[in-house]
Amino acid sequence: MTEKQLRVAVIGAGHWAVSSHIPGWQRDPRVEVVALADIDKEALKAAAKDFGIERTVTNYRELLDDPSIDVIDVATGNAMHFEISMAAIAAGKHVLCEKPVNSDYTETRRAAALAAAKGVKTKLGFTFRFAPAIQYAKHLIDQGFIGEPYIFNGYEQNSQWLDPQTPLRQAETDADTSVIAVSSIEGYGAPIIDIMHWWLDAPMTAVVGTMRNFVPERMVRETGSMHRMNIDDGDMWIAEFEHNRLGSIQSSYVTVGNFPGIEARIYGSEGAIIVRLVEERGICQTIKVAKKDQVEFEEIEIPEAFFPEDGASTEDWPFLFYSNLCKDFTTEILSGDSVNQGDFVQGALVQETINAFEKSFRDRAWCDFPLSGSSAQAGMGRA
Ligand SMILES: NC(=O)c1ccc[n+]([C@@H]2O[C@H](COP(=O)([O-])OP(=O)(O)OC[C@H]3O[C@@H](n4cnc5c(N)ncnc54)[C@H](O)[C@@H]3O)[C@@H](O)[C@H]2O)c1
Repeated sequence: MTEKQLRVAVIGAGHWAVSSHIPGWQRDPRVEVVALADIDKEALKAAAKDFGIERTVTNYRELLDDPSIDVIDVATGNAMHFEISMAAIAAGKHVLCEKPVNSDYTETRRAAALAAAKGVKTKLGFTFRFAPAIQYAKHLIDQGFIGEPYIFNGYEQNSQWLDPQTPLRQAETDADTSVIAVSSIEGYGAPIIDIMHWWLDAPMTAVVGTMRNFVPERMVRETGSMHRMNIDDGDMWIAEFEHNRLGSIQSSYVTVGNFPGIEARIYGSEGAIIVRLVEERGICQTIKVAKKDQVEFEEIEIPEAFFPEDGASTEDWPFLFYSNLCKDFTTEILSGDSVNQGDFVQGALVQETINAFEKSFRDRAWCDFPLSGSSAQAGMGRA
């Protein structure tokens, strides 16, 4: 058996697993990736060779009974997230899962409850929460840098599908093209909604907003031809919070700009912080701050403590941000305490927010939050 402190099995050896999850785990000297699973034998073989992972299986269930595995990392496509996460938690493993765990937030909450009962930790693939600049901003907010928070503005936007010829999956289309289908806010909005809740750190009480379809016809990947796709490729939302706080979210994939396209701004009684996660001029993140008596924003250095080992803003963002996510989860698990940021409880809150946004659009009215009587925000103020 390995000498490392934490042993991880990764399920799914696709594009995202090889560009972020596996290298992210392997960067941490405390961790060993001991097994890899994929139903696609070619992808499995190639990734195992590239990353030097000895044990490979095509049926992930073979890994669940192995007592030497501490963490199951679910990096498959969305359809398998919930099934694998539930099976792994039931087997007593800590679980990292790509978003969404389940598009029904009550099911995600059920998974969180099972994890609590089993005494294991969970983590969502909220990549951008773990950007060093975003983590440092939260540290500054907690230190009182902005004073009392007033307003949060969050953007997740880039031009990935501005060109109608860029193929989209059929799953993104809606059979009934007379009704606009949720797309950008669900596929892209989750990480910035996560940051909004985390930074404002107060229960959300109501939301309103709208969605638009800007590019009517698109190339559908499966057919190779152009079809009417009435999907939300841009949207805007306003949210009210307790303690007199306000938030806004804008998500789009037809807005000119580079990846990943996150901007998070927070304004308070004493100061303000603006973080941009956009690959520009060879770096992937910047943080700018201003104080009430010095209103010109200035870029500041991100302290080394907020980076993974030897990390730098010049690295590819999937690798840099995911290394930090894996490092954070490793520290949380090994600490043995109750700290667990960006967990499945938070995942359920983010999914419930997306569902409330959609309801407000369909009803053309403000939507009270939480949707359900019982609040997923009970743990607000946790890490
Ligand atoms: N957090 C982020 O910023 C971010 C970015 C990109 C992708 N993602 C998410 O990551 C996930 C994977 O995306 P991708 O682009 O790598 O997709 P992909 O299709 O390239 O890879 C998925 C892999 O999972 C495998 N798989 C499917 N069912 C399986 C099963 N039952 N057991 C084992 N393996 C199985 C597939 O064979 C495939 O190799 C998706 O949920 C996607 O939404 C998240």
